[in-house]
Amino acid sequence: QHIPVICIDGPTASGKGTVAARLAQRLGYHFLDSGAMYRITALAALRSGLAIDAAHEAQIAALAQSLPVRFEGERILLGDEDVSSAIRTEEAGMNASRVSALPAVRQALVALQHGFRRVPGLVADGRDMGTVIFPDARLKVFLTASVAERAERRHKQLISKGFNANMQDLRADLEARDARDSTRSVAPLQPAQDALVLDNSHLTIEQTVEQVWVWWQERQ
Ligand code: C5P
Repeated sequence: QHIPVICIDGPTASGKGTVAARLAQRLGYHFLDSGAMYRITALAALRSGLAIDAAHEAQIAALAQSLPVRFEGERILLGDEDVSSAIRTEEAGMNASRVSALPAVRQALVALQHGFRRVPGLVADGRDMGTVIFPDARLKVFLTASVAERAERRHKQLISKGFNANMQDLRADLEARDARDSTRSVAPLQPAQDALVLDNSHLTIEQTVEQVWVWWQERQ
């Protein structure tokens, strides 16, 4: 009953999602994009007419508890609707950050996240995978990069998807989101005590994956 877990935590645009997905593929493991759960919860709340604030915490938590969400390969479905692109905008990210600061909402999503731990193993990415959700993970990596580098990556990503993006705004958004995620009272963004920290400002995605792969081999 000891299913191995690899946690990849870190700030926005550190590359953790891509790295986690590639590792999962390489190992044939399941993949959990926990940020997507917060993004979908925020979307569902706003659609139900609930403002994302403490006054609506209980209602949003109830919504999160019974979220009709399905992950089908690259596609993320809310009910029957494909929300894969709707949840990837900067605005959706900011709303996710706000919803994720509500303790009852975080609590409501715990069981859903634990449910992804299935044989043969799991690679999970987020902010608190190693600190809160899977404290017994076999490998915990905290992936980070400079703000300038992350803003640059996000900029490229948005442009390539055909979105408009302004570097200055992106950098400000990124810093605001980092600050909120790092200073909230529940599950703040910080490396687990036993996490290996990797600053990949000067590494490619491939090099980053290789480093994590080496660490994983050392744990076998
Ligand atoms: O990783 P991603 O940018 O998709 O996450 C969106 C937001 O969800 C983050 O800014 C963070 O506030 C929140 N989040 C979280 N805990 C996680 C994953 C994401 O609080 N495990």
